[in-house]
Amino acid sequence: RTVYLNGDYLPETEARVSIFDRGFVMGDGVYEVTSVLDGKILEFEGHLARLTRSLNELGMENPLSRQEWLDIHHKLVALNDIREGLIYLQVTRGNPGDRDFAYPPKDTPQTVVLFTQNKPGLADNPQARTGLRVVSVPDLRWGRRDIKTVQLLYPSMAKMEAKARGVDDAWLTEDGFVTEGTSNNTYIVKDGKIITRQLSTDILHGITRASLLRYAAEAQMQIEERPFTIAEAQEADEAFLTSASAFVLPVVEIDGAQLGKGTPGPVAARLREIYLEESR
Ligand code: PDD
Repeated sequence: RTVYLNGDYLPETEARVSIFDRGFVMGDGVYEVTSVLDGKILEFEGHLARLTRSLNELGMENPLSRQEWLDIHHKLVALNDIREGLIYLQVTRGNPGDRDFAYPPKDTPQTVVLFTQNKPGLADNPQARTGLRVVSVPDLRWGRRDIKTVQLLYPSMAKMEAKARGVDDAWLTEDGFVTEGTSNNTYIVKDGKIITRQLSTDILHGITRASLLRYAAEAQMQIEERPFTIAEAQEADEAFLTSASAFVLPVVEIDGAQLGKGTPGPVAARLREIYLEESR
């Protein structure tokens, strides 16, 4: 695989970063995951806007122009012959030369890394037909979940907890309400209405979420942006989640309680179809 590191395209085995890099020792960096379908990069503008916002919130500059980011995306997709897959992008505060809590001087070069992940079958995901089973776990992440930082230890722990309990993923709860999934935004459907938590610093502002809600509104579907509890989700007609890598995936079981007949519902299926159609 050919990867991008600070201006160079290199074989992955030759891409090296300092042990003092703040991404490595401090988790001081932000990232994006963008999907590729039929060789086409999806939602580039949305991901770039969120990247810029994440960098701003952490007092970091955007190291590259829109055109430079776009060129790197296209070049990596071409070099690695990606038809279906993901592009991972990460910007860290770079290498201050030693470990220190204070940020290094502004002119310290950031570390910019991009790589592709080949994922044939991303769109034709069997989980879209079977649905996912999830368990709830407390949301023990930090308070700025709207910033897409590389600090992913708690989501990883939650994912492992879900696996240990024999299910697919975890939904995170705080003060009795669902915030989001380990790496996705969460929704329930009741009497045809789509309910999803409103944007705040409590959740990541999903790029897939933004587009999906726009498509749903265009299709005259009803949307309510508010928090919901696990109990309400268990009583819902349907549930689903969205992310750049999942698109839209139905959820059929929450904490052991089956939703409806325990099979994917029509609203989630229709939204997945609409999302893939609009993206292609
Ligand atoms: N995760 N919420 C969290 C906590 C996420 O990590 C993600 C994305 C989302 C969905 O955002 P989007 O629709 O922009 O992908 C919501 C990516 C896919 C990841 O970490 O792999």
